[in-house]
Amino acid sequence: MLLWSLLSTLVWGPGSVLILVLLLRLCVRLWHKSHLWDLQHCSTDLTGKTAVVTGANSGIGKVVAQELARRGAHVILACRSFKRGKQALAEIQAALRCNHLLLGEVDLSSMASIRGFARWLLQEYPEIHLLVNNAAVCGFPTTLTPEGLDLTFATNYIGPFLLTNLLKGALQRAGSARVVNVSSFQQTRGYIDEGHLTGAGGPLTFNQNYNCSKLLLTSFTGELARRLQGTGVTVNSVDPGVVYTEIMKHFSWPYRFLFWLVSFFIKDPKQGAVPVLYLSLAKELDGISGKYFSSSCVISPPSKAAQDPQVAQSLWNASVQLTNLDKMD
Ligand SMILES: NC(=O)c1ccc[n+]([C@@H]2O[C@H](COP(=O)([O-])OP(=O)(O)OC[C@H]3O[C@@H](n4cnc5c(N)ncnc54)[C@H](OP(=O)(O)O)[C@@H]3O)[C@@H](O)[C@H]2O)c1
Ligand SMILES: *[C@@H]1O[C@H](CO)[C@@H](O)[C@H](O)[C@H]1NC(C)=O
Ligand SMILES: *[C@@H]1O[C@H](CO)[C@@H](O)[C@H](O)[C@H]1NC(C)=O
Ligand SMILES: *[C@@H]1O[C@H](CO)[C@@H](O)[C@H](O)[C@H]1NC(C)=O
Repeated sequence: MLLWSLLSTLVWGPGSVLILVLLLRLCVRLWHKSHLWDLQHCSTDLTGKTAVVTGANSGIGKVVAQELARRGAHVILACRSFKRGKQALAEIQAALRCNHLLLGEVDLSSMASIRGFARWLLQEYPEIHLLVNNAAVCGFPTTLTPEGLDLTFATNYIGPFLLTNLLKGALQRAGSARVVNVSSFQQTRGYIDEGHLTGAGGPLTFNQNYNCSKLLLTSFTGELARRLQGTGVTVNSVDPGVVYTEIMKHFSWPYRFLFWLVSFFIKDPKQGAVPVLYLSLAKELDGISGKYFSSSCVISPPSKAAQDPQVAQSLWNASVQLTNLDKMD
């Protein structure tokens, strides 16, 4: 009887709820661990290679940058805030006790900023072996940039489009190079409308601009891969999964609070970086291009719209026009 009442207080008391939550969290962590690619057993060495990671000052990008540097790569942390970038750089350098990381300033929502950054980068590093298009924003309503682009689409799609194209020569010179785009499972919930790029186009419900911008990025995979066939440069995109990072920082507090609650059961940035690192490092992916990888590192069909080469070509043409790619470079 005593045992029974003791048991029931244990089961229903607030302490036991906490224990239950912690146990559940442990299970989730272990499950993720066992289902993720085994980073430790990958022997890829990056000594002498150059890697560029955008949005490397927080979340997934920061973990990716640190792991690439740990493997000997010269890593350029491409960040929009000098202050936040400097801090991440110092943290990584302190953790690795190494000195081959460099801070580059670039605002991916600005085409002018990207051109300036690319010019500087190409002078310093004529060969680039890895480009991780990781930076993205989420949670903004339709907002026009001074250059007349929608902020979300500019940052998440046009920015990587322009940067990748400007660095194309350096990637090709490297002999063998990879482009990795950090997409999202949310791309399946978007639709393609080129009008969105300039803040026009079909109506977007709350946060659908994020979904759509990630879909465009995924669509671009196929087109760029076709264009780079036979050059030694491969391009693939990947969904990191649901990861507790700063990605929700532009949302109102109830959303951020919910995300925080959920944070106990989702991936931490280290785990979220694994699919991105898989695409960056795994030897078995040599020569594989134009694919979309799920968060468990498996090649998956992206949304129907992203598979249509006609749509991809038209999007490519629209993007070239918006970025003046054919006129200036
Ligand atoms: N977290 C998830 O659940 C999840 C799920 C699917 C996909 N993803 C994708 O994973 C990638 C990494 O996100 P995260 O979760 O690690 O979020 P995060 O912690 O917010 O990191 C995003 C990074 O992008 C940078 N950035 C934003 N706008 C920029 C701009 N205009 N120019 C340059 N850099 C800019 C941010 O810099 P500031 O610090 O200056 O803002 C930050 O370093 C994103 O592509 C995201 O869409 C995340
Ligand atoms: C990466 O994004 C760039 C710019 O949007 C695009 O050119 C390229 O095809 C994409 N690659 C992948 C693999 O998604
Ligand atoms: C965007 O995608 C997420 C995840 O798939 C979904 O929950 C959300 O409803 C989508 N938003 C819109 C407006 O479709
Ligand atoms: C894209 O542009 C190319 C060359 O300018 C053209 O041949 C092609 O038909 C265009 N594709 C689409 C789908 O608009």
